[in-house]
Amino acid sequence: MFRIGKEEIDAVARVINSKQLFKCNDGLKETENCEREMRELFEIDHAVLMTSGKAALVSALIGMGIGPGDEVIIPAYTYIATAIAVVATGAMPVIAEVDETLMLDPQDIENKINERTKAIIPVHMMGYPCDMDSIMKIAKKHNLFVLEDACQANGAKFRGQRVGTIGDAGALSFNFFKIISAGEGGALLTDSKEIFEKALIYHDSSAVAYFGDQMKDFSTEPFCGTEFRVGEITSAILRQQFKKLDGIVADLRKNKALLKEALGDGFDYTPCNDDDGESAIAITFRFKTIEECRVFAEKTGATIPGFTGKHVYNDWKPILEKRGAAHPLMDPFKWDCNKNVSYSEDMCQKSLEILKRSAHIFMDADWTQDDIDAMAEKIKNAVK
Ligand SMILES: Cc1ncc(COP(=O)(O)O)c(C=O)c1O
Repeated sequence: MFRIGKEEIDAVARVINSKQLFKCNDGLKETENCEREMRELFEIDHAVLMTSGKAALVSALIGMGIGPGDEVIIPAYTYIATAIAVVATGAMPVIAEVDETLMLDPQDIENKINERTKAIIPVHMMGYPCDMDSIMKIAKKHNLFVLEDACQANGAKFRGQRVGTIGDAGALSFNFFKIISAGEGGALLTDSKEIFEKALIYHDSSAVAYFGDQMKDFSTEPFCGTEFRVGEITSAILRQQFKKLDGIVADLRKNKALLKEALGDGFDYTPCNDDDGESAIAITFRFKTIEECRVFAEKTGATIPGFTGKHVYNDWKPILEKRGAAHPLMDPFKWDCNKNVSYSEDMCQKSLEILKRSAHIFMDADWTQDDIDAMAEKIKNAVK
């Protein structure tokens, strides 16, 4: 989260003074207005605010009709929530390699496709866009859904189009660690009426049919889902945060360009699928050896994605050890229809190697030229 202050405080105060904190109301209608503003910003037919990015991922998969016996391809480098979202539908996550861009490797997607594959989840990690041209081509060839996990890439674009709007659906996160935030929160984006209807019902099955006219013109009958409904305070904060999004991205991009200029030649940066579209939340260095990378990280405070303990498949114990639910009968890993999928710690060797010799330094939208020069000095000293 980069910029939050008076605008958000005033917005929350307005909601509290209105005494209308539920999303369906005759007052400020913050959720309704935020979703409308998101549809305009993202140039998309449907936007649904939810309690988290994972909620949006699960709801999107349910909207796609994904379920037991299906397989969904995800990258070796993502937060465990992406994998857990697939398990929540009763389907199986199939883990594919990332390439030198640290994003899902289109070639390995092809290797992982079989008759059970129903969807691909490209994850735009650290604001870097995936190779959506290749991924969309593969999905079309094999008749697969594409769900973009844009939880870490709000504000990023691929070939001029906002990530999260290129596939059949996209998921955004507004948790505390994201570029804009309400502490927690998420959103589903889609142009598909069918995905929208099922996802809306699933995300709030106890209220969607009974409050307001949310199901007006629906062709889907209500079914039992869960409760990922968002409240007016979250939506009021997000409306203000969205006004700041593109300005934050512009400043991050400007600061990253200035930092690269101050660093001069001699650095190997991780290649990006669209240099003009990434949101620049990090500058990422690539090293020849894991040891060189480790020394660099020690001296600069950089984060090595292969060692965060959270973001690489070999850290996802509940997945690797197949613990899919508290109750054994509810555990998709134990169902016959899912018996074909297996996992091991070394199944994506290529990804592990690449992720251990890459290092992210987080950018700041509010750095001054002095801050940038100091960071450049630190980085240069680390490789002397
Ligand atoms: C890549 C990715 N996907 C999904 C999520 C889940 O988002 P949330 O924490 O809002 O559920 C995160 C959160 O950090 C994430 O980084």
